[in-house]
Amino acid sequence: MKLSLPRWFAHRGGGSLAPENTLAGIRLAARLGYRAVEFDVMLSGDGTPVLIHDETLERTTNGIGRVCETPDAELFALDAGHGERIPRLAEAAALCRQYRLLANVEIKPAGGFERQTAEVVARQASALWQGAEVMPLLSSFSLEAVEIARDLAPALSRGLLFERVPADWQQEMQRLQAVRLHCNASHLADDTLAALKESAIPVLCYTVNDPEQAKALFARGVSAVFTDRLDLFASETSAYKGLQLGG
Ligand code: G3P
Ligand code: MG
Repeated sequence: MKLSLPRWFAHRGGGSLAPENTLAGIRLAARLGYRAVEFDVMLSGDGTPVLIHDETLERTTNGIGRVCETPDAELFALDAGHGERIPRLAEAAALCRQYRLLANVEIKPAGGFERQTAEVVARQASALWQGAEVMPLLSSFSLEAVEIARDLAPALSRGLLFERVPADWQQEMQRLQAVRLHCNASHLADDTLAALKESAIPVLCYTVNDPEQAKALFARGVSAVFTDRLDLFASETSAYKGLQLGG
């Protein structure tokens, strides 16, 4: 079944209105009418895929140290804000399925854990969303991670994620059989966007917290934006009939 690509993705779980990368954030996004949510997935010290952005615990939790060195028993006892726990990928997947939210699972390996993280996330995502009506979108800044996802979870569509779109984006898209390009809104040049449009590749931009900027990006042909400001776009989320998803 072809599903439409929503224009607005709640960034890092639920953006800035709830603790980032938490189940509370995902629930809030759903309540506000968002149809899509992006979150970051990294491995714990025990190799469990969990939702967290930084390699270290300090900014978003009351813990200290590296996520990849923290055992589950310790990690899941931490407060990730307002009493929320760090969620497992499995919990986030169940919630997204329950709310029929499109999940953009950003594979976010800690340095040196690219292969391991991609293998676990690709395998788990395939299993967790098996038979789902709305299948997740995988993406990563790590091309190695995307390559592994291509090989282990070919049925899950992939997006390449760039801070700045490199000159060889077309070769990489082909090599990794990626169907979307995700990039920083601030560095998206007109000629690059024109070439992407020419190739019918949907472009998704992060992080857009200003309605005027969103309007300008959509006018330029950008397909979707990731936002922290769920409140600003809430009135537009459920009404929009989007583009067709590739892959
Ligand atoms: O996936 C888009 C965006 O989340 C990438 O940036 O650092 O917020 O994960 P970051
Ligand atoms: Mg992210």
